Amino acid sequence: MKVDLNRSFAREKTPILYEDGRVLMLDQRLLPLEERWNLYSTTAEVAEAIKAMVIRGAPAIGCAAAMGLAAGARRLPDEPKAFERGFEELCQLMQAARPTAVNLGWAVSRQRDVVRRTMPEGIPAVRDALDRAALEVQREDIGFCKAMGRHGAALVPDGATILTHCNTGGLATAGYGTALGVIRAAHEAGKGITVLADETRPFLQGARLTAWELMQDGVDVTVITDNMAGALMQAGAVQCVVVGSDRIAANGDVANKIGTYSVAVLAEHHGIPFYVAAPRTTIDPAMPSGSEIPIEERPPREVTHMGDTRLVPPDCKVRNIAFDVTPARLVTAIITEIGVARAPYTESLARMMEAHFDPT
Ligand code: MRU
Repeated sequence: MKVDLNRSFAREKTPILYEDGRVLMLDQRLLPLEERWNLYSTTAEVAEAIKAMVIRGAPAIGCAAAMGLAAGARRLPDEPKAFERGFEELCQLMQAARPTAVNLGWAVSRQRDVVRRTMPEGIPAVRDALDRAALEVQREDIGFCKAMGRHGAALVPDGATILTHCNTGGLATAGYGTALGVIRAAHEAGKGITVLADETRPFLQGARLTAWELMQDGVDVTVITDNMAGALMQAGAVQCVVVGSDRIAANGDVANKIGTYSVAVLAEHHGIPFYVAAPRTTIDPAMPSGSEIPIEERPPREVTHMGDTRLVPPDCKVRNIAFDVTPARLVTAIITEIGVARAPYTESLARMMEAHFDPT
């Protein structure tokens, strides 16, 4: 079947689709200048697209992993033992794509469980179940984002200027967004909010993606360079900070895009609430504290170059640490689809992990 690549994010409201055993992704490396959708047929191609940041953002990476495994399973042999062996290899491949976002491992485990449960029904049934589970991961995440939006908007004062970091919108999730979902819900509730978007060096998710998304929704957004946040807080121009997360440890330590920790320290210094919005799929109860969270280090080229232009002297050493960890004590509250957790997080997050989600 021919898959239509002439899509628009404004219409689809998601950066990722699964059709006829193939994965369509909006290429986020090209935004905001070009809106191009790519088609992927194998697990290896999807894993490579995750690595290369065609798709990014913890929940969106989880969707891509679930879909990439469903697509790959269609190309495995029909003999059960060979299928199981091949599927495990695909899981390992996918798992290695990016280390920090726990949603990736969560989606891989979920698809592994689907295979284990449905094997007795035969390989065609396993493939169908993987397809259904991939679409379910996407559908569920949109529900989580809308619920986070409802819980989070209640924390945002009328007329507030909200500072956010990186991109946590529809582009970073199955749709609607985590921190940007809260911002969107506050806007939709008529709270008259304005947004300061950190540009988010070096990949510029804030300048390129957050600004693009919020402008499409008619939200008043201003892009600032990352090092302007302190001066604006000092001037009283920020009423709250809302960010997303890639992994939250059991004690409430939060891994998120590099620069988040600096924003949290600044927010505490200026007495500004610092909120984290993330679905429970981002909480990793097996990780006691943030110090054990694996932090990705990305290729130096993202720092040394802006597009094709070199900024840093050739052969100069660079670091490109992609995430940092904000200690729980700097986090005012964590907004999930279940509600709002506050310190002590070891107890409040454990309670949240046990609660049942009601999407209504
Ligand atoms: O490197 P990225 O662009 O994948 O990093 C994304 C972030 O850090 C987001 O803040 C996080 O994934 C939460 S998004 C809903």
